[in-house]
Amino acid sequence: MKIGIANDHAAVEMKREISDYLTSKGYEVVNFGTDTNESCDYPIYGEKVSKAVVNKEVDLGIAICGTGVGISLACNKVKGIRCCVCSEPYSAQMSKRHNNTNVLAFGARVVGIEMAKMIVDAWLDTEFEGGRHQRRVDLIMDIEKEA
Ligand code: RB5
Repeated sequence: MKIGIANDHAAVEMKREISDYLTSKGYEVVNFGTDTNESCDYPIYGEKVSKAVVNKEVDLGIAICGTGVGISLACNKVKGIRCCVCSEPYSAQMSKRHNNTNVLAFGARVVGIEMAKMIVDAWLDTEFEGGRHQRRVDLIMDIEKEA
């Protein structure tokens, strides 16, 4: 599976560690983030990884900034993206199971690396349940068509 990963300057180290972790687990990782600590604008990187997901260049995306909030907002502006910020594994797991999230966000200034790994594992190891949740996800995506 191919995972796109994006980050701003607040999350360079976290991106590296998560990329290495995913690679060690056999995932192919594509880097859409910045690699320097120079201040930059997180929407640019959220858009890049989200467009890669929508265009099927990667299967799923991970977006990291200081809080995870700004970059997740940017990701959700790309049509077809369902992204949420998760600071613990339960929300990450349920966001895939019930909401079929295709981008996972978290904050490098909020969670430590071991918690981040647990969040990523919970998300990647969970499948969308479909059924009544598909109807609800469809209703979310319909809002995009109206906007
Ligand atoms: C950058 O200082 C910070 O604002 C950014 O990483 C993120 O937390 C925004 O939501």
